[in-house]
Amino acid sequence: MNFDKEYIDIFEHYEPVCIDLGPGVMNDLSAEFLLSEEKPVVTFVIGGSSITRSGARADMTNMMLHSEFESRLVCGIPAEPDLDDVARIIEALKESQSTEVVAIGGGSVLDAAKAAWAAYQTGLDVSALFGVNKITEKFPGKEFRRIIAVPTTAGTGSEVTPYSNIVDRAAGVKRLISDRQIVPRMALVDPSYGRSMSGGLTAATALDALTHCIEALLNTGSPETKFATNHNAVYAVRLIRDNLPLVFRDPNDVNARERLCAAATIGGIMIADRPTSLPHLGSFSFYGQVPHGIAASMLLPPFWRYYLAEKAVAERTMLLADVFPSDAPQKTPEAVVDAAAAFIALHAGVPKLSALPCFDAAMVGRIAADAVKNPMKLASAPRPVSPENAAEIISEILKKEL
Ligand SMILES: [Fe+2]
Repeated sequence: MNFDKEYIDIFEHYEPVCIDLGPGVMNDLSAEFLLSEEKPVVTFVIGGSSITRSGARADMTNMMLHSEFESRLVCGIPAEPDLDDVARIIEALKESQSTEVVAIGGGSVLDAAKAAWAAYQTGLDVSALFGVNKITEKFPGKEFRRIIAVPTTAGTGSEVTPYSNIVDRAAGVKRLISDRQIVPRMALVDPSYGRSMSGGLTAATALDALTHCIEALLNTGSPETKFATNHNAVYAVRLIRDNLPLVFRDPNDVNARERLCAAATIGGIMIADRPTSLPHLGSFSFYGQVPHGIAASMLLPPFWRYYLAEKAVAERTMLLADVFPSDAPQKTPEAVVDAAAAFIALHAGVPKLSALPCFDAAMVGRIAADAVKNPMKLASAPRPVSPENAAEIISEILKKEL
């Protein structure tokens, strides 16, 4: 097996989603719709100006001109989409009576489209979908149509996950839908779209993917599954370690971007089965202030050090000893975490957690208070944390970083 291209094999055998990765994969859409028995009515859900800069919008327009299907466009879905953004998509779906949804953009656009398509088909209010398996439980035995995802950033892995994060502004929180019925049926990943991303966005998205892979690796409570394996997590971390510096050096290095995209999609496959825990949980409190991937990755080292008291976590950490080597005389789990923390800080452009804007005593209090609102993420922590003691433990860990 060619290590560098091992991801092709992983994707080929991943049953829930048909994954195609490479320059020009948007063209696969025409063929996909040609195969439809009925003439499809397609709603394209896209983000803001970054979609134009990436070249994805031009590819979409070109494909629409040369294909025989009815289409409708919903533009301008922002980062951190809220219930109003989802409602706008649902309105468009109702008006056009769509039979297909294609989401083109970052994870936010994909998440909004997943939520809207599920709400439209089930007839349920979006707020009734928040939580775990609400659709599957309400409609046993029924299979709903799923979106086609075209991610333009390499980070969230939303193109292969059963998750959708939507902001509930009235409640002041980000809320999660988790249901296999919203896993996209097809993911078309074109690494060339990443070339227009700034260095900051490239880092934030790659470090988000890195955090997914490491949190999944450390999630000793969830078993290895056919695809969410320790081997695949370490493999994807190595791809990011090797290729993020190359993309920093040359933003047009499409080969390196392809590997970052592959790692991000593997990260999505990992967290679909082995969810993230405290670092991601803490990152939600930064929404609107610090990019998600920067917040999550900068929170990773302190929580990782806390987890190390568990023998199984220390053993998993040593699987990364060659990926994050250190100058320390002895190879220890602590040295691996220190080396990973240095890699993250270097690429995030933030020397330490306390250098993040808005990381202060009030933020520590908010993270601790918000944590108890998400028992699912607490339950994924490899070192036991309960809703009763979570606030105390989390503030103790983070106060050391102030
Ligand atoms: Fe994330």
